[in-house]
Amino acid sequence: MPKKAKNLDKSKPSKSSRKIQTLKGFRDILPEHQKFWGFIFDKVRKTAEDFSYEKIDTPIIESTKLFERTVGESSDIVSKEMFTFEDKGGDKVTLRPEITAPVARAYIEHGMLTWPQPVKLWYWGPVFRYDKPQAGRYRQFYQFGFEVLGSDSNKVDSQLIIMANNLYKSLGLDIEVQINSIGCPECRKEYIKELKEFLKDKKLCTDCKKRLEVNPLRVLDCKETKCQEILVDAPPILDNLCEPCNKHFVKVLEGLDDGGVAYVLNPKLVRGLDYYNRTTFEFYLAGEDIGSQNALGGGGRYDYLVEQLGGRPTPAIGFASGVERAIIKLKEKDIKIKDETTADVFVAQLGEDARQKSLNLFNDLRKQGIKVRQAFAKKGLGDQMEAANRVNAKYTLILGQKEIMDETIILRDMDSGIQEVIPFEKAIPTIKQRLLSVEGGLKVYSENGNGNEESKQSIDNSKEVIKS
Ligand code: HAM
Repeated sequence: MPKKAKNLDKSKPSKSSRKIQTLKGFRDILPEHQKFWGFIFDKVRKTAEDFSYEKIDTPIIESTKLFERTVGESSDIVSKEMFTFEDKGGDKVTLRPEITAPVARAYIEHGMLTWPQPVKLWYWGPVFRYDKPQAGRYRQFYQFGFEVLGSDSNKVDSQLIIMANNLYKSLGLDIEVQINSIGCPECRKEYIKELKEFLKDKKLCTDCKKRLEVNPLRVLDCKETKCQEILVDAPPILDNLCEPCNKHFVKVLEGLDDGGVAYVLNPKLVRGLDYYNRTTFEFYLAGEDIGSQNALGGGGRYDYLVEQLGGRPTPAIGFASGVERAIIKLKEKDIKIKDETTADVFVAQLGEDARQKSLNLFNDLRKQGIKVRQAFAKKGLGDQMEAANRVNAKYTLILGQKEIMDETIILRDMDSGIQEVIPFEKAIPTIKQRLLSVEGGLKVYSENGNGNEESKQSIDNSKEVIKS
């Protein structure tokens, strides 16, 4: 049978190329969702400013070694979830699965050790994990995070958690803090011996059998029901803290008490990344079940991470929070967010001459710092008024053929629907005055007198225009 001719004409879509969709676990952020993103970003930035954190952006791709050496080869993230590939030069690179190790790398690379300590940084950006996609779990998701490098003070731990609590509150979310201390490498040695002894004859899941060999602490984090049941009687790590670690943790909790932050001690909270020591914590919506998929955010101390990456010893702590998860909670709680797509003035036009003049007016209004919008691509006035309503414009300036000839313009108050005709050259001063009076709560009437014959006439005229 003769082979079917291939579609060589690239201008015609072939069947297989017609519909390409986002990859599994990846999502578009559509215009209608942007208000949630903007709302959270503004609160995060405000918090960062208030608490003197400086913004850092790190690349989305890093050397794979960065994560293998820090997040840990026994962690789920490194062993199962990284988007790793060889680049064209043959280097093994990874789409960042988290941002703490990149921040620590940047701290060393840019000599931040010589900056006044501690160095306080915040970030916002996409991270990638090849996880099983489900509600609240994606393969590309956004994190915002705060990192403090160069201090081992317990006050930094409690202040960071208090700040996070305030930040969530400012979003309208009441959180509960789950907290633990996993001690230092010294006190952990003893604990791990005890834990191994406890787990040695237990029927653990396949993953945990491996974990027991490579990193027994990780068993505490297992989500399998049969492992969870076994772990109920496991020795608590908190009973094994050395004196300095214990003292540090008690002070952190006292700091939280003073700051009025509710917390729950959770001796199984070891977190899924290897670089932690001492304080570990996770944030949940108050009253919700705890579980890896529900955590709004999490973090902890990583006093050895900078050293592990070849830097000088630099105690540090931080947390990161999932933006999508916060948005899910905002929606579930029906928290209303002010739509930021508002405009003071909308410029509408009818006809070619009016379009050019309106464009100039639009630019002049913009230069005056007035929030002005337009939809010049739309021809009909009805469509333009719809666009004006969509951006919640307070006023619309309408320019048609008649107004061009008369050197006037129609000013419509979008709340009351009242329209009046004003001289074209008065358009900007009148708008400015009206906006001022709205903000100041004053009622200002039009310069040529509200309700006079001329105005009434123009209202009738413009009604005609709108109908057309
Ligand atoms: P993490 O707990 O792996 O910590 O992630 C922080 C937050 O990112 C989680 O609490 C969750 O809200 C969100 N998240 C994690 N995985 C997903 C996913 N697949 N889909 C949607 N959201 C997700 C870290 O990444 C550490 N770097 C935190 C840190 C900062 N520790 C010290 N400093």
